[in-house]
Amino acid sequence: MTDNHLIAFTRGVPPVESFPIKRLEECAQAVLERDGNRLLQYGKAAGYEPLRERLTAQYSVSKGQIIVGSGSLQLLDTLVRVSLQPQDYVFLEQPTYDRVLTIFRRSGTQLEGINLHNGLLDMTQLEEKLRSGLRPRYFYLIPDFQNPSGAVMPLAARRKLIELSKTYGFYLIEDGPYRDLRYHGQALPSLFELAPERVIYMSSYSKLISPGLRVGFMLLPPELVESVRKFAEDTYINASYLNQAIAYEFIQRGWLAENLEQLKALYRPRLDTLLQTLEAEFFGRADWVKPAGGFFVGLNLGAGYCVPNPSALQAAGLALSDSRGFFIQGGEQFIRLPFCALTPEQLQEGVRRLSRAIFS
Ligand SMILES: Cc1ncc(COP(=O)(O)O)c(C=O)c1O
Repeated sequence: MTDNHLIAFTRGVPPVESFPIKRLEECAQAVLERDGNRLLQYGKAAGYEPLRERLTAQYSVSKGQIIVGSGSLQLLDTLVRVSLQPQDYVFLEQPTYDRVLTIFRRSGTQLEGINLHNGLLDMTQLEEKLRSGLRPRYFYLIPDFQNPSGAVMPLAARRKLIELSKTYGFYLIEDGPYRDLRYHGQALPSLFELAPERVIYMSSYSKLISPGLRVGFMLLPPELVESVRKFAEDTYINASYLNQAIAYEFIQRGWLAENLEQLKALYRPRLDTLLQTLEAEFFGRADWVKPAGGFFVGLNLGAGYCVPNPSALQAAGLALSDSRGFFIQGGEQFIRLPFCALTPEQLQEGVRRLSRAIFS
């Protein structure tokens, strides 16, 4: 029964039923037996060698360019700390992932949001800013199943961005944690695949195996590797080798590929139910992109409609993230709906409650 229970559209976390506990137990036991002395000692800051070698082959980079961290966010934070000054500019999609916005804000750099309209980056706005003389150091983007909108960047926009990054000399930071979670259709090439020399790629196993492992990675251009590695070494020495070895073992056994198929089978009907219920409840009163993967659908409410205030939400039995966190400015009419950790029944009920709270 969902009726009396709070339905929380707050966190983009995987559901506990997705955790491959038995298999991770087996991996932990195997790696400790095989390599316990190395895993339980301090290690080099760049990460557990076998995992780095695997990533080297997967992304066709040199091993020196790969850093494995305690989640990808930790690596982004380190990159920001070692490479940005308060006078530097950073561009971000607007809306974007709220924690990343916090990391960039904390660095004191100048932030410029480039709007997403129906999931499409406003290239005119971007080109105007560049032509007016603004020179970003980085443009942080989530091209596949963006958090929070769910949008996928079309191929032409990917190519255009790369061209602009070459013309105006900035790096694209591509964040790809949802890229492999596609429930329908075909993948587009990543920015990194299109132009590895212009892209700092980051991703993690948080959404593909488990966030609790805290294993993420970053592919860095040669000129940034040493400063990121040194900062990591001086700050936390190394991220957990034990967890990296468990993730590595899981991948080597072919279980990541199987896990992905199970995750897609679990999440696909959740996404489909959410989209169907939105169509029934919000048609004509809000816009949203219809993602074919990932964790989120972002709603833009039509003119005259507002996100219910906290007490109205509580009365409706709902919890939502504060959408202003996803925007540099604004966000009052935006709602992020994470769908992976709710059952189809909860999603239907949650969207109906939301519609009643907004429209009645
Ligand atoms: C776009 C994006 N990047 C990074 C992360 C966090 O990744 P990690 O667990 O590897 O730090 C998230 C988690 O929600 C995310 O949505």
